[in-house]
Amino acid sequence: MSNSFFQKDIVSVRDFDKQKFETVFQATDKIIGMNQNERREIVRGKTLGYLFFEPSTRTRLSFEAAMASIGGTSLGIADASSSSAKKGESLADTVKIMSLYSDVLVLRHQLDGSSRFAAEISEKPLINAGSGTEEHPTQAILDLYTIRKEKKKIDGLKVGIVGDLKYGRTVYSLLYALSNYNVDVKLISPPSLKIRADSTYEIRKKLQYTETSDLEENLDDLDVIYVTRIQKERFADIEEYVKVRGSYKIGPELVNKIKDDAIIMHPLPRLDEISPEIDSTKQAKYFKQAQYGKDTRAALLALILNENGI
Ligand code: CP
Repeated sequence: MSNSFFQKDIVSVRDFDKQKFETVFQATDKIIGMNQNERREIVRGKTLGYLFFEPSTRTRLSFEAAMASIGGTSLGIADASSSSAKKGESLADTVKIMSLYSDVLVLRHQLDGSSRFAAEISEKPLINAGSGTEEHPTQAILDLYTIRKEKKKIDGLKVGIVGDLKYGRTVYSLLYALSNYNVDVKLISPPSLKIRADSTYEIRKKLQYTETSDLEENLDDLDVIYVTRIQKERFADIEEYVKVRGSYKIGPELVNKIKDDAIIMHPLPRLDEISPEIDSTKQAKYFKQAQYGKDTRAALLALILNENGI
């Protein structure tokens, strides 16, 4: 029997349950434990095609690095303005062409629904690497893996999610992912950046959460502090951005208030919401989180491209 990821699209984390997360986590642990020669046989001869219509550092490069680490190659468009999209070629045609040259596609696009649409068009499995303000499922996979690895469990934890909860797509994927676990969630944001009303019904069905705008008063009992950037590029009115920019800044004085064994995460990029002074503290896990991004993406690619998994 083939593994349940084989040749499947990854469009939304809502398609995952606890068992599917565990399959990716175990595959990740297995790949990390392999030597380089074993690893390079996993997807030898396979090609990843990437299409990035929005800027990226971590997601694109970690997919490329992941594919190389398991023996595959990558090609793609890192900047849509240098592709024929600039001449007016449709997303549908771009995806069709890329699926001729690749075994698996990775798409980042500014529009909600873009990945679902592209997955229907593509003849090869497609991975959503960020679709508008909607979702970023592989970020949620690496986020959960980081929590599991650094806290040794996910169930039973108190998780605070801080910052731009309205526009941050990583927040939605993380909330959908966490709804498979028994966790207490505190959502900490300026009132104008609370999670979107159209998502609260679905999230509330499976997840306990409270909402507040006060960061300092709500840090002391958290096991995980997940900080996000205020997403300037998503604001229709720049004046609204100016009102909320710099709302939260985690500096040394706030780190003194958190639990000794709490972890601080961030999907990155960061602006000023986490001071660089925090980087050397034992609670700072955001760079490790980015490293796990490569490992979990390698596992996901291995599962999608190999019928028998790894
Ligand atoms: N976390 C994340 O998606 O980072 P990039 O935008 O750099 O890919």
